[in-house]
Amino acid sequence: MSPADLRLGSRGLRGVVFSEPQIRQRVADLGEEITRAYPEGDLLVIGLLKGSFIFLADLVRAIRRPLQVDFLVASSYGSASVSSGEVRLLYEPAVPLRGRHILLVEDIIDTGRTLNRLIDLLGARSAKSLEICALLDKHLADEVLKTKVRFVGFDAPHEFLVGYGLDHAEDFRHLPFVASLAE
Ligand code: IMP
Ligand code: MG
Repeated sequence: MSPADLRLGSRGLRGVVFSEPQIRQRVADLGEEITRAYPEGDLLVIGLLKGSFIFLADLVRAIRRPLQVDFLVASSYGSASVSSGEVRLLYEPAVPLRGRHILLVEDIIDTGRTLNRLIDLLGARSAKSLEICALLDKHLADEVLKTKVRFVGFDAPHEFLVGYGLDHAEDFRHLPFVASLAE
Protein backbone atom coordinates (compact mmCIF):
# COMPACT_ATOMS: atom_id res chain seq x y z
CA MET A 1 0.00 0.00 0.00
CA SER A 2 1.60 3.26 -1.04
CA PRO A 3 0.51 6.80 -0.06
CA ALA A 4 -0.60 7.38 -3.66
CA ASP A 5 -3.22 4.59 -3.35
CA LEU A 6 -4.86 6.38 -0.47
CA ARG A 7 -6.09 9.68 -1.80
CA LEU A 8 -9.48 10.47 -0.27
CA GLY A 9 -11.14 13.32 -2.09
CA SER A 10 -8.76 16.21 -1.69
CA ARG A 11 -7.16 14.69 1.43
CA GLY A 12 -4.04 12.82 0.50
CA LEU A 13 -0.99 11.77 2.44
CA ARG A 14 2.17 13.82 2.32
CA GLY A 15 4.47 10.93 3.03
CA VAL A 16 5.43 8.03 5.28
CA VAL A 17 6.87 9.20 8.59
CA PHE A 18 7.44 5.81 10.27
CA SER A 19 7.54 2.77 7.99
CA GLU A 20 6.19 -0.70 8.71
CA PRO A 21 9.66 -2.22 9.37
CA GLN A 22 10.64 0.73 11.58
CA ILE A 23 7.49 0.29 13.65
CA ARG A 24 7.96 -3.49 13.88
CA GLN A 25 11.50 -3.10 15.24
CA ARG A 26 10.58 -0.35 17.70
CA VAL A 27 7.57 -2.26 19.05
CA ALA A 28 9.74 -5.36 19.59
CA ASP A 29 12.25 -3.23 21.55
CA LEU A 30 9.49 -1.59 23.59
CA GLY A 31 8.12 -5.04 24.43
CA GLU A 32 11.54 -6.04 25.79
CA GLU A 33 11.83 -2.79 27.77
CA ILE A 34 8.42 -3.34 29.32
CA THR A 35 9.16 -7.01 30.06
CA ARG A 36 12.30 -5.96 31.98
CA ALA A 37 10.51 -3.12 33.79
CA TYR A 38 7.91 -5.32 35.50
CA PRO A 39 9.57 -8.07 37.56
CA GLU A 40 6.49 -9.30 39.45
CA GLY A 41 2.83 -8.59 40.27
CA ASP A 42 -0.31 -8.44 38.18
CA LEU A 43 0.07 -6.33 35.07
CA LEU A 44 -3.03 -4.91 33.41
CA VAL A 45 -2.35 -3.32 30.04
CA ILE A 46 -5.10 -0.84 29.19
CA GLY A 47 -5.45 0.34 25.62
CA LEU A 48 -7.09 3.69 25.03
CA LEU A 49 -9.51 3.17 22.14
CA LYS A 50 -9.73 3.56 19.33
CA GLY A 51 -6.32 4.93 18.42
CA SER A 52 -4.21 2.35 20.26
CA PHE A 53 -5.87 -0.80 18.88
CA ILE A 54 -3.18 -1.82 16.39
CA PHE A 55 -0.25 -0.72 18.54
CA LEU A 56 -1.71 -2.53 21.57
CA ALA A 57 -2.20 -5.76 19.61
CA ASP A 58 1.42 -5.74 18.43
CA LEU A 59 2.84 -4.52 21.75
CA VAL A 60 1.28 -7.14 24.04
CA ARG A 61 2.62 -9.89 21.77
CA ALA A 62 6.11 -8.50 22.34
CA ILE A 63 5.82 -8.56 26.16
CA ARG A 64 7.16 -11.81 27.65
CA ARG A 65 5.43 -11.99 31.02
CA PRO A 66 1.92 -12.72 32.27
CA LEU A 67 -0.49 -9.84 31.70
CA GLN A 68 -4.12 -9.02 31.19
CA VAL A 69 -5.59 -6.69 28.57
CA ASP A 70 -8.49 -4.30 28.83
CA PHE A 71 -9.58 -1.06 27.25
CA LEU A 72 -10.66 2.45 28.01
CA VAL A 73 -12.94 4.42 25.77
CA ALA A 74 -12.78 8.14 26.30
CA SER A 75 -14.73 10.62 24.25
CA SER A 76 -12.36 12.79 22.23
CA TYR A 77 -12.07 15.19 19.32
CA GLY A 78 -14.99 13.99 17.19
CA SER A 79 -13.96 14.61 13.61
CA ALA A 80 -11.93 17.77 14.22
CA SER A 81 -8.14 17.90 14.23
CA VAL A 82 -8.08 20.16 17.29
CA SER A 83 -8.40 19.02 20.91
CA SER A 84 -11.45 20.30 22.76
CA GLY A 85 -10.04 19.34 26.17
CA GLU A 86 -13.26 17.53 27.12
CA VAL A 87 -12.70 13.92 28.22
CA ARG A 88 -15.42 11.52 29.39
CA LEU A 89 -15.05 7.80 30.08
CA LEU A 90 -17.51 5.81 27.97
CA TYR A 91 -16.06 2.39 28.90
CA GLU A 92 -13.58 1.34 31.57
CA PRO A 93 -12.16 -1.99 32.78
CA ALA A 94 -14.59 -4.10 34.75
CA VAL A 95 -11.83 -5.52 36.98
CA PRO A 96 -10.66 -3.47 39.98
CA LEU A 97 -7.35 -1.65 39.42
CA ARG A 98 -6.43 -1.83 43.12
CA GLY A 99 -3.10 -3.59 43.71
CA ARG A 100 -2.27 -4.11 40.03
CA HIS A 101 0.40 -2.57 37.88
CA ILE A 102 -1.39 -0.53 35.23
CA LEU A 103 0.20 0.26 31.88
CA LEU A 104 -1.91 2.73 29.92
CA VAL A 105 -1.28 2.51 26.18
CA GLU A 106 -1.88 5.60 24.03
CA ASP A 107 -1.46 6.17 20.32
CA ILE A 108 -0.09 9.71 20.42
CA ILE A 109 0.46 12.48 22.94
CA ASP A 110 -0.32 15.91 21.57
CA THR A 111 -1.53 18.53 24.09
CA GLY A 112 -1.57 15.94 26.92
CA ARG A 113 -5.09 16.97 27.97
CA THR A 114 -6.59 13.51 27.41
CA LEU A 115 -3.82 11.86 29.35
CA ASN A 116 -3.91 14.26 32.30
CA ARG A 117 -7.60 13.69 32.70
CA LEU A 118 -7.11 9.91 32.58
CA ILE A 119 -4.23 10.08 35.06
CA ASP A 120 -6.61 11.85 37.47
CA LEU A 121 -9.36 9.29 36.91
CA LEU A 122 -7.12 6.20 37.15
CA GLY A 123 -4.82 7.64 39.80
CA ALA A 124 -7.71 7.57 42.27
CA ARG A 125 -8.07 3.76 41.95
CA SER A 126 -5.20 2.62 44.23
CA ALA A 127 -3.26 0.80 41.53
CA LYS A 128 0.18 -0.53 42.52
CA SER A 129 1.69 1.59 39.75
CA LEU A 130 0.47 3.62 36.81
CA GLU A 131 2.77 4.03 33.80
CA ILE A 132 2.16 5.32 30.31
CA CYS A 133 3.29 3.89 27.02
CA ALA A 134 2.72 5.96 23.88
CA LEU A 135 3.58 4.98 20.34
CA LEU A 136 4.19 8.61 19.43
CA ASP A 137 5.01 11.67 21.51
CA LYS A 138 5.03 15.16 20.01
CA HIS A 139 6.72 16.40 23.22
CA LEU A 140 4.42 19.41 23.38
CA ALA A 141 3.09 18.23 26.74
CA ASP A 142 6.32 17.43 28.59
CA GLU A 143 5.85 20.31 31.03
CA VAL A 144 2.13 19.83 31.63
CA LEU A 145 1.83 16.05 32.02
CA LYS A 146 1.15 14.92 35.59
CA THR A 147 2.97 11.62 34.98
CA LYS A 148 6.08 11.33 32.84
CA VAL A 149 5.58 9.04 29.83
CA ARG A 150 7.78 6.08 30.71
CA PHE A 151 7.74 4.24 27.37
CA VAL A 152 7.76 6.10 24.05
CA GLY A 153 7.87 4.50 20.62
CA PHE A 154 8.96 7.49 18.57
CA ASP A 155 9.39 11.22 19.00
CA ALA A 156 6.84 12.59 16.55
CA PRO A 157 7.06 15.64 14.30
CA HIS A 158 4.59 18.46 14.97
CA GLU A 159 2.28 17.44 12.16
CA PHE A 160 -1.07 15.67 12.00
CA LEU A 161 -0.27 11.97 11.68
CA VAL A 162 -2.45 9.07 10.55
CA GLY A 163 -2.19 5.31 10.20
CA TYR A 164 -1.30 2.35 12.47
CA GLY A 165 -4.47 3.15 14.45
CA LEU A 166 -4.43 6.95 14.15
CA ASP A 167 -7.27 8.53 12.26
CA HIS A 168 -8.40 11.68 10.59
CA ALA A 169 -12.21 11.77 10.82
CA GLU A 170 -12.08 7.94 11.22
CA ASP A 171 -10.14 7.42 7.97
CA PHE A 172 -6.64 5.97 7.61
CA ARG A 173 -6.61 3.86 10.80
CA HIS A 174 -5.83 0.68 8.84
CA LEU A 175 -2.57 1.85 7.27
CA PRO A 176 0.35 -0.37 8.37
CA PHE A 177 2.62 2.70 8.58
CA VAL A 178 2.39 6.22 10.08
CA ALA A 179 2.04 9.03 7.57
CA SER A 180 1.58 12.78 7.60
CA LEU A 181 -1.56 14.27 6.15
CA ALA A 182 -1.34 16.68 3.23
CA GLU A 183 -2.77 20.18 3.83
P1 IMP B 1 -4.18 15.29 23.41
O1 IMP B 1 -5.23 15.24 24.47
O2 IMP B 1 -4.12 16.62 22.72
O3 IMP B 1 -2.81 14.84 23.86
O4 IMP B 1 -4.67 14.36 22.25
C1 IMP B 1 -4.61 12.98 22.36
C2 IMP B 1 -5.48 12.30 21.33
O5 IMP B 1 -5.76 13.14 20.21
C3 IMP B 1 -4.76 11.11 20.77
O6 IMP B 1 -5.00 9.96 21.53
C4 IMP B 1 -5.31 11.02 19.37
O7 IMP B 1 -6.50 10.27 19.34
C5 IMP B 1 -5.61 12.46 18.99
N1 IMP B 1 -4.49 13.05 18.23
C6 IMP B 1 -3.60 13.97 18.64
N2 IMP B 1 -2.70 14.26 17.69
C7 IMP B 1 -3.02 13.48 16.63
C8 IMP B 1 -2.46 13.30 15.32
O8 IMP B 1 -1.43 13.90 14.92
N3 IMP B 1 -3.07 12.41 14.52
C9 IMP B 1 -4.19 11.70 14.90
N4 IMP B 1 -4.74 11.83 16.10
C10 IMP B 1 -4.18 12.72 16.97
MG1 MG C 1 -8.42 10.20 17.21
